[in-house]
Amino acid sequence: KDFSYSFATDSELLHAEVDVNRAYARMLAKVGLISRADARKIVKGLDAVELSWKPVTRSKYSALYEDIHSFIQGELEKRIGAVAKKIHTGRSRNDLVVTSTRVYLRAEIEAISEKIRETQRALVYLARKAKGMIIPGMTHLKKAQPVLLSHHLLAYVEMLQDDSDRLRNARARVNVLGLGSAALAGSALPLDQKFLARELGFERITSNSMAATSDRAFIAEVLSVLAMLWMHLSRLADDFILWNSEPFNFVELDDEFATGSSLMPQKKNPDIFELIRGRSGVIFGHLMSILTIQKGLSLCYNRDLQEDKPGLFDTIYKTHLALKLLPLTLRSVTFNPESMALSLLDDTLFATDIVEYLVRKGMAFSDAHETVGKVIRTSIESRKPLRALKLDVYKKFSNKFGPDIYKLFNAEASVRAKKTVGSTNPGRVGREMTKWERLLRKK
Ligand code: ARG
Repeated sequence: KDFSYSFATDSELLHAEVDVNRAYARMLAKVGLISRADARKIVKGLDAVELSWKPVTRSKYSALYEDIHSFIQGELEKRIGAVAKKIHTGRSRNDLVVTSTRVYLRAEIEAISEKIRETQRALVYLARKAKGMIIPGMTHLKKAQPVLLSHHLLAYVEMLQDDSDRLRNARARVNVLGLGSAALAGSALPLDQKFLARELGFERITSNSMAATSDRAFIAEVLSVLAMLWMHLSRLADDFILWNSEPFNFVELDDEFATGSSLMPQKKNPDIFELIRGRSGVIFGHLMSILTIQKGLSLCYNRDLQEDKPGLFDTIYKTHLALKLLPLTLRSVTFNPESMALSLLDDTLFATDIVEYLVRKGMAFSDAHETVGKVIRTSIESRKPLRALKLDVYKKFSNKFGPDIYKLFNAEASVRAKKTVGSTNPGRVGREMTKWERLLRKK
């Protein structure tokens, strides 16, 4: 029993399965397989089973019932007697378990989508708070070009929107009715699948009973979308961990969302961000599990498929918790503009601006790139920042350099000069913020 029973885990499906059973009882009465009176008794009994559910029920019954299906059946029998046996007419646990899982997952997709929006709102709030602040954008973890901090934060709003869209898209493949498939071949009884689909809010009825009872790709799809979400969350977390580290010191975390060290009294650690970064590894593991559980598995139902649930439930649980904490943590962050200004005291951040300056004056791009490279070498060799090199030094490399070159060593000017759609230009970033505030408004 310890080895094979799944009640301790799949009792998570209780409410979904009770909903499925209520609809199923009404359907059986509608087509005349059971009487209206029996259906009423069953529905009432199901209400009672659901009402008496307490979290301790899980541990109390975990050695008594094999799974959530036998639990509901057994508890129903205790309450209404032999009539309870009619609820399983024309179906198998094979088409039942997948239906309850789909009902459960559909609701979780809604709830997680709303939590993603809440995280996006917190990021837009922070972006607004960071208005006008400039940091060195990095590639290869090295200073590259000045960017607006708001632009950096909105990058995550954009990525999370993709995750949200992917989740909504995956819902279409979750929201399919599998009942009527029975164990694998379908049923000879006059089950009304259209009625069930309507009652349970399914958009579609399966067109293949073997696919319906075998396939858990809908779980793999949701887990892969959530893995991508966690991939983004781990990068977001890592940026804040970096910005919170001493060399950066761009952000300060609220005491409520940081912990100290048991040894070093001066410490304030970004635990929530570190746990999000670390936990993403666990989430990726669950995706690998659901893929491997199904790999090479012959049709139709095999008990292997029972293993689809622990990773699914754990992913959903961890995602809810992370998305509950993250918006609160983000909103509590304060910025240190002084540290940002200090980190911009590196003239090589403007190297690309100088290249584009030369291109605007008619030099071919590759020549401009090479020329600025040489200027930088001179600056390093003479131990002078770029802005300290005299104009005649610049002129030695190209006569296209003029006195206006010195206007380039300015982070505001650098971001303001950007023109392309999606760039870090302050006007554009401002309009993006307004756009997101409108799109994410609470309905
Ligand atoms: N606990 C099982 C699962 O989650 C339910 C289906 C069992 N079906 C069977 N034929 N043993 O997959």
